[in-house]
Parts: sequence; structure tokens; C-alpha cells
Amino acid sequence: MMRISLLALIMTAFAMPLYAQAADELPGEKIFNSRCKVCHNAMTNQRKIGPGLQEVFGRESESGIGMLTEERLHQWLENPKALKPKTRMPKYGPMQDPIKRQAVIDYLKTL
Ligand code: HEC
Repeated sequence: MMRISLLALIMTAFAMPLYAQAADELPGEKIFNSRCKVCHNAMTNQRKIGPGLQEVFGRESESGIGMLTEERLHQWLENPKALKPKTRMPKYGPMQDPIKRQAVIDYLKTL
């Protein structure tokens, strides 16, 4: 009995920091880091391939697609060319999934 609870205690001690780390990162941040970061700075307004996205939510777009509202961001991320046929921002597979798209938009709101 004693051994089991000691083991449980040790396991909890090891599991805690891992859990805290996972909870810190928004699901949308993970997607952003793997799919968007190559072309966009998140923490500054400095351009990379595309505009810097600091405080992007609700601001006027640099791309000429209007105010970056929730609805506009959904349209843009789902299919950029539908809003701007000559844009250089590509369409991404994972952004066809409304749940993942929402997660990324929720992350953009925090920038
Ligand atoms: C291959 C590079 C590339 C990748 C990857 C990319 N983008 Fe873009 N993005 C661009 C370019 C270029 C523009 C400017 C488009 C234009 O002016 O036509 C842009 C524009 C934007 C804008 C509009 C900003 C503004 O002020 O006009 C948002 C928001 C955006 N991207 C979000 C994302 C998100 C979120 C992802 C990941 C799912 C992503 N982008 C992935 C290149 C990229």
C-alpha cells in the first residue's frame, strides 16, 4: 500500500510540469508556429513574407481585404484567393477545418 502511494506521488511530481507546459500553449499557437510563422511575425509589425501580425485582430488589413474581423479572418484563412485573387498567401489544408481555423483566430486575438 505504502509503495503504491509513493509511486503515485512520484508520478504526479513528474507529470505536473509537463501538464503546465501543455496548458500554456493555445492550440492555435501550435498551428500558427508550424504553418504561419515562416511568413509572419507574431510579436512585431515587421514584415516577413507577409505583414507582421501584432495586434492584427480588428485592424485594417495591409492586404486590401478590409477590416480584419472574425468573419473576414475566417474567409481569408479558408481561401485567401477568394478575397484577393492575386494574393501570394497560399491556401492551407488545415485551415479548411473550421475548428482549427477558429483556434488560429483565437490565437491571433491574443497578439
Ligand atoms: C508562404 C507565406 C505565407 C504563409 C505560410 C502564411 N501567410 Fe498569411 N500572408 C502572406 C502574404 C504574402 C500576405 C499578404 C497578402 C497580400 O497582400 O495579398 C498574408 C496576409 C495575411 C493576413 C492579412 C494581414 C494584413 O494586414 O493584410 C493574415 C491575417 C494572415 N496572412 C494570416 C496567416 C495565418 C494565420 C497563416 C497560417 C495559417 C498564414 N497567414 C500563412 C503569406 C503567408
